[in-house]
Amino acid sequence: MEIVICSSTQQVGDVAAARVAQVCRAAGPNAVLGVATGSSPLSCYTGLAERVRSGSLDLSRASAFALDEYVGLPRGHEESYAEVIRRTVTEPLGLDPARVHTPDGFADDLEAACADYERRIAGAGGVDVQILGVGANGHIGFNEPSSSLSSRTRIKTLTDRTREDNRRFFAELDDVPRHCLTQGLGTIMDARAVVLIAQGGGKARAIRNLVEGPITAMCPGSVLQFHRYATVVIDDAAAAELQHADYYRETYAHKPSWQRFEN
Ligand code: F6R
Repeated sequence: MEIVICSSTQQVGDVAAARVAQVCRAAGPNAVLGVATGSSPLSCYTGLAERVRSGSLDLSRASAFALDEYVGLPRGHEESYAEVIRRTVTEPLGLDPARVHTPDGFADDLEAACADYERRIAGAGGVDVQILGVGANGHIGFNEPSSSLSSRTRIKTLTDRTREDNRRFFAELDDVPRHCLTQGLGTIMDARAVVLIAQGGGKARAIRNLVEGPITAMCPGSVLQFHRYATVVIDDAAAAELQHADYYRETYAHKPSWQRFEN
């Protein structure tokens, strides 16, 4: 795992975007992105959008797969992840909407929708680079604590903590759905590279557990310790509980130029 500790949200976004852009360029014009909703990746999307605008990155033929979707919202609801991804990813990054996918949380047959999503990811050749946030309880995607470390896309029940955390997007807590479809931890681990982003002291415990704790279903993100190409980009506040923060800072500061992420 590579841990990059940054001094500002903008730097977090820039480092994460540089890494994602590097993988996309290496993958070629048909690169496949895995995308997350929520606040954490927004600065990365800004950094990617700047690269697209300046012409240093072309995503017009790239595909994208979202991690998850609520179950229980009407299709087209502005907080459905299909809509959030359209606003925060598809439009700013100039992606072709026909190549942007979210699990179909509105389907009558949810199990078939999950199986179909796995088929669509496989049909696109798999995800080249998966962008992730992390929940305060250590979830990635909506794989809540106790999720199988080898799970695939499936229906999950959100914890009270996650519903409270996502209440800010809804008028009241009762409006936050209780269920979702989410890529599994096994699905996420199949991505060829992973970039996890976290900011703020509210994520410090989750980051400590994910990076330095035991690999356990009680901190689902800890499964990333098994990933060969996982980059964790965080700010000082999210790094506050890391025991080896000095080592990570020194490692990144002295990283040889040929190993750095290209802009
Ligand atoms: C989003 C997702 C979640 C979020 C996590 C952090 O699609 O799957 O795992 O990444 O809940 O959310 P923020 O970034 O809003 O703190």
